[in-house]
Amino acid sequence: MIELREVSRIFSVGGQEVRAMDRISLAIEPGEYLSIMGPSGSGKSTLLNILGLLDTPNSGSYLLEGQDVTSLSDRQLAATRSRKIGFIFQFFHLIPRLTARQNIELPLLLAGVPRRQRLERSSRLIEAFGLADRPHHRPDELSGGQRQRVAIARAVINEPAVLLADEPTGNLDRSSGAGIVELMEDLNHRGLTLVVVTHDPEIGERAGRQIRVVDGRIVHDSPGG
Ligand SMILES: Nc1ncnc2c1ncn2[C@@H]1O[C@H](COP(=O)(O)OP(=O)(O)OP(=O)(O)O)[C@@H](O)[C@H]1O
Ligand SMILES: [Mg+2]
Repeated sequence: MIELREVSRIFSVGGQEVRAMDRISLAIEPGEYLSIMGPSGSGKSTLLNILGLLDTPNSGSYLLEGQDVTSLSDRQLAATRSRKIGFIFQFFHLIPRLTARQNIELPLLLAGVPRRQRLERSSRLIEAFGLADRPHHRPDELSGGQRQRVAIARAVINEPAVLLADEPTGNLDRSSGAGIVELMEDLNHRGLTLVVVTHDPEIGERAGRQIRVVDGRIVHDSPGG
């Protein structure tokens, strides 16, 4: 469903070139559970941002569900992203002045889904993600674990094919982190393709397939266990 062919992402800063991704080829099948590990600065976030259409390669090609997305316009990229991809981050990226429910419903609002349907779908996720007593709280009134559950609900409310998570537990204590991992794995068991960038080997080793990135290259790619 995802195929990168020889993808490079080069940043130029002050006349110096950084190869954040160096001709990476990677194929991910539907329903896979993949972790990406590697040293700081090795290119993990860059890779995830490319997969999530938040950034575009300097060279190489990217096929998403058979469609070449390398040459799409910004507008087409945004539309494809909102239909097919959910993204969560270490620092949640929730909108501070919106409640938990409003944050979760935001993608539906942007997609023009009517109020009644929005309410139905957000209620289901609020219930399923253990947020039933918090729908009216704003992010600063929620714990880290609760914020990340809101972020995951927002990421999956459009029923994307793939969920990309960049250090989703990096800002959480161990037990909240474990809850977040279980929630994502639960979604994966229902068929969602899951890609998790993490510094925590205990989390990375849970994935069925583990990738190690060093200096913008995949140096290891193996089934777990
Ligand atoms: N917008 C940017 N402009 C310039 N250089 C960048 C940019 N984004 C990333 N880089 C560089 O690309 C390289 C890879 O960065 P990236 O953020 O992908 O690393 P990472 O593996 O996610 O690291 P960490 O584990 O610290 O999050 C780094 O050398 C970084 O400095
Ligand atoms: Mg990173």
